[in-house]
Amino acid sequence: MTPTLRPLRPDDVPAVVDLLDAAAPYQMITVGWLRWHLTGAPAAERFGVLVADLGDRIVGAALTGLLHESAEPDQAFANLTVHPDWRRRGAGTALLAAAEGRLAGLGARTVYAKVADDPACGAFAERRGYRRGRRTDYLALDLVDADLAAPPAPPAGVRLLAAAELADPHPLYQADLDASRDEPGEAVMADISYPDWVAAYWDRPDLDRGLTTLATMDGEVVAFSIALTDGRDRYRSGMTGTRRAHRGRGLARLVKIESLRRARAAGHRRALTANDAGNTAMLAVNRRLGYRIVGADWRYRRDLTR
Ligand SMILES: CC(C)(COP(=O)(O)OP(=O)(O)OC[C@H]1O[C@@H](n2cnc3c(N)ncnc32)[C@H](O)[C@@H]1OP(=O)(O)O)[C@@H](O)C(=O)NCCC(=O)NCCS
Repeated sequence: MTPTLRPLRPDDVPAVVDLLDAAAPYQMITVGWLRWHLTGAPAAERFGVLVADLGDRIVGAALTGLLHESAEPDQAFANLTVHPDWRRRGAGTALLAAAEGRLAGLGARTVYAKVADDPACGAFAERRGYRRGRRTDYLALDLVDADLAAPPAPPAGVRLLAAAELADPHPLYQADLDASRDEPGEAVMADISYPDWVAAYWDRPDLDRGLTTLATMDGEVVAFSIALTDGRDRYRSGMTGTRRAHRGRGLARLVKIESLRRARAAGHRRALTANDAGNTAMLAVNRRLGYRIVGADWRYRRDLTR
């Protein structure tokens, strides 16, 4: 039976989240996050989902949109998943073609795709003109058993607080911009504007401002660890960063441990994170905390004009 391709409808959201979870549970895509994206936030992303529908079940989905923080306005993403039980029946080929068509219609010239670390998936992408780039490692930590001994006291003048205590998130925006500039990866982020950052990060529904932990000094955020949750028992690090001038003092480890300790106290049982495979500093922090690699994917790209 050939699946029908169509745009996602609001009542499909739980089924699509189950599908994404079945293929890559370490990504922690939540129903709230997907519903929020479908309302058109953040607007500049022009997010859209295509599904492969068999009539009684959704067997595949392509999440598409523009990489709105990219320095180039014509960069896009197409992240495509077919349920492991329904592969090799043409759903992936049809979804990818439809996704590229949608993105070309939005003016995209380059498409990035996350491809599972599996030879069959890599071969699928390569036969469709995609070239392999960098690897992302996904790591997990069992929070119940993790050794999260109280970290040493912060250096003089540094105070730890939750993002919920910030009167105004602007200092966190500045720290995020500063730290993100040095994050290894292939798509170089431009200076996202403050309103766009608020829309894309501060207002996302899975951000937990009580668990997101900051180190501040003289009113400036010098290090931070962003906490996302699934509203049940999973916790995911959105981004951990230290401003350039404050690196090498253990601040990333400090904010991360504090956030993990708060997450455990709040009843979370599993902590997840993703790191570019070349991000040796962050991988070292995470391994020392007890995180272990549970999955990986590769960033592939294709220039639509060729
Ligand atoms: C990669 C992925 C999307 C492919 O989905 P799929 O539905 O199996 O894709 P298709 O069925 O269209 O194509 C897969 C292969 O099966 C072949 N195929 C299609 N119908 C077939 C059939 N009836 N019998 C046997 N083989 C068939 C296709 O020709 C294709 O081989 P090719 O690349 O040599 O052309 C899927 O494996 C997946 O979700 N992987 C995890 C996420 C991922 O890596 N996504 C990135 C994709 S760019």
